[in-house]
Amino acid sequence: MQSYLSIAVDIAKEAGALLAQLFHRPHEISYKSRFNLVTEADKRSEALIIERLRTHFPKHAVVAEEGGGERTASDYCWYVDPLDGTTNFAHGFPVFSVSMGLACRKELIAGVVYDPMREELFTAERNAGAYLNNQRIHVSKNASLDESLLATGFPVFTATDHHLNIQLYHRFTLICHGIRRAGSAALDLCSVAAGRFEGFWELKLNPWDKAAGALLVTEAGGRVSDLSGGEFSLEKDEIFASNGLVHEAMCQVFAEVMKKEQEAANRE
Ligand code: IPD
Ligand code: CA
Ligand code: CA
Repeated sequence: MQSYLSIAVDIAKEAGALLAQLFHRPHEISYKSRFNLVTEADKRSEALIIERLRTHFPKHAVVAEEGGGERTASDYCWYVDPLDGTTNFAHGFPVFSVSMGLACRKELIAGVVYDPMREELFTAERNAGAYLNNQRIHVSKNASLDESLLATGFPVFTATDHHLNIQLYHRFTLICHGIRRAGSAALDLCSVAAGRFEGFWELKLNPWDKAAGALLVTEAGGRVSDLSGGEFSLEKDEIFASNGLVHEAMCQVFAEVMKKEQEAANRE
């Protein structure tokens, strides 16, 4: 019998191949709000994934970004982002992915993120490690924030509310090797899992952006929490993932910047 993960891998690869094929064609772009785009590729990828999940797991709940899922009473729930990095895709910037995470009674048990441009397949199962193209991956061993490469993201659906993250971006830029804002949160999390980034944070993410990537990070030996170092939850908007070694130092910087912002707000 095929495992949940191997079925998810087949589906993510099929959806990724569809995205790769559509990437080079002109896109039909529509807008969910002023800066929040959706393309025909998001919709077609989601329709494919939902159809395959329904065939294999008719009773499982599915929460998918474009609304095609169904919240059944099952203990099992799939979190699906059919195209993570839509803005990149629409502009021809080849950084995007398919992300599928499976939770059982709210505990993440399997995750797959597929980058069809680089043909990188990231997979993880609870207590069984994290893999890139079937090779075991681990978070980086770098404990120095000074020597870290970090990543963040700015959600398009709250484009008017980026003030705090710009302050965080500014502060970290001055105290590490650099910050990347590549535009696919699922791939950012996988880059932490693969030891490419020491840390990644974002303030407003949906469960489908982070379910698979969060499991990848913990299974690669990293740590996932909120920005205060408190417990990670799919229901919380924010996420902070790191190699564990720079976690406390980064939490301290988050706290300092947020305190300053609060003081400035109180003075107004
Ligand atoms: C977005 C990407 C981006 C992140 C945004 C997400 P989408 O997902 O993950 O990196 O900064 O917050 O909404 O809309 O391309 O699926
Ligand atoms: Ca997304
Ligand atoms: Ca998406």
